Amino acid sequence: MDDKQRVGLEAAKAVKEGMVVGLGTGSTATFFLRELARRIKEENLSVQCVASSFACSLLAKAEGVSLLSADQTDRIDLYVDGADEVSPEKGLIKGRGAAMVGEKLLAEACGKFIVIVDQGKLVEKLGRKFPVPVEIMPAAVSLVRPGIEALGGKPALRLAPGGKDGPVVTDNGNLILDVTFPADPDWHALDAGLNALPGVVGHGLFLRYAKKSTVLVGHPGGVRVLA
Ligand code: 5RP
Repeated sequence: MDDKQRVGLEAAKAVKEGMVVGLGTGSTATFFLRELARRIKEENLSVQCVASSFACSLLAKAEGVSLLSADQTDRIDLYVDGADEVSPEKGLIKGRGAAMVGEKLLAEACGKFIVIVDQGKLVEKLGRKFPVPVEIMPAAVSLVRPGIEALGGKPALRLAPGGKDGPVVTDNGNLILDVTFPADPDWHALDAGLNALPGVVGHGLFLRYAKKSTVLVGHPGGVRVLA
């Protein structure tokens, strides 16, 4: 079994009758969603689900999982999602799938956050493997750059890899700058600094959710919980 599948299956065990469940985006979260869909059908489990992105909403529909839109609920009991990097302090970088704004909405709202990753996502320090994705209003594409550079970042517009010319456009109609920072910056200051820039809609640094997070790490021998 794939390591991503292991954690997806494990996280699905945490879903209980009557919960409002946030569905993450990406290949690991897809394993969770498929297993949840199976439990809903086979165990006649009654849960309400909220999608973090258009991609996972399409997948939920294909799996026969009915959805609440995010504006129809004021509570998320459990949110399960993958990540691109996980630090020992349970800080995350998310957004390779360009869905971090919808994902952060659910991470902020949820009572419990289960992060599901394979071992390759664990890093000693954030930013070692991935840049920080920053979602910006299209009109801000030039004007926001000096502000990001003043924070020490090097922004690069994310381009669509195929099938579309030009930049990736998010579910919210915005663009993404992938921002590289010099090694080991003050991530909390950057979190606040990015949030404060006009034109920035959101970003993929998830630093505030460690307390309510359980990180499940898949490895060939099974699943371990990051303490
Ligand atoms: C999407 C995300 C994903 O959770 C993250 O990219 C991990 O994806 P995968 O499980 O496919 O490795 O943040 O915006």
